[in-house]
Amino acid sequence: MNEELKVSKIKNGTVIDHIRAGMAPMVLKILGVERGFPEGVVMAMNVRSRQIGFKDVVKLENQFIPDDFVKKIAIVAPQATVNTIKEYKLVQKKQVELPHDLYGILRCLNRHCITNSAERVPSHFTVESREPIGLRCHYCEGLVETDSVESLL
Ligand code: CTP
Ligand code: ZN
Repeated sequence: MNEELKVSKIKNGTVIDHIRAGMAPMVLKILGVERGFPEGVVMAMNVRSRQIGFKDVVKLENQFIPDDFVKKIAIVAPQATVNTIKEYKLVQKKQVELPHDLYGILRCLNRHCITNSAERVPSHFTVESREPIGLRCHYCEGLVETDSVESLL
């Protein structure tokens, strides 16, 4: 069954499409849905996609997401597209983009890293590999790979 038959169109908001199958819960975690969210959220998992076989989709009613969230989403869903919907019409479609450097948006897992010290140095990760993901802390040089990426978000 295709996505259109499963989940309805939204009037206003954001559709995060082409999320790798199984990764939608991570996207919801990044968006902070589990901490409470002001509007409706619809998640569809394992829907058929012409482009990528199976995919997950997340729809956020009346919410438009800031760039820092889009960068984080790119870590867990590098093929995702972010669609902005207004009055049922698609007004913008962008591919998520993972920059080479991520400043201040992830927390280093190393307790002794300067970014976790009282000095409050903002975090800085560089992207060493994309698929599978490998992120290196600029300060303590700790490497974060797929299996531990969830605890960074
Ligand atoms: N969508 C929605 N509500 C709307 C309009 C679009 O939920 N009012 C969803 C569609 O179901 C789709 C995504 O937003 O998941 C992007 O819409 P569109 O670009 O029209 O779909 P496609 O052409 O299939 O997208 P792509 O080319 O990126 O695969
Ligand atoms: Zn570090």
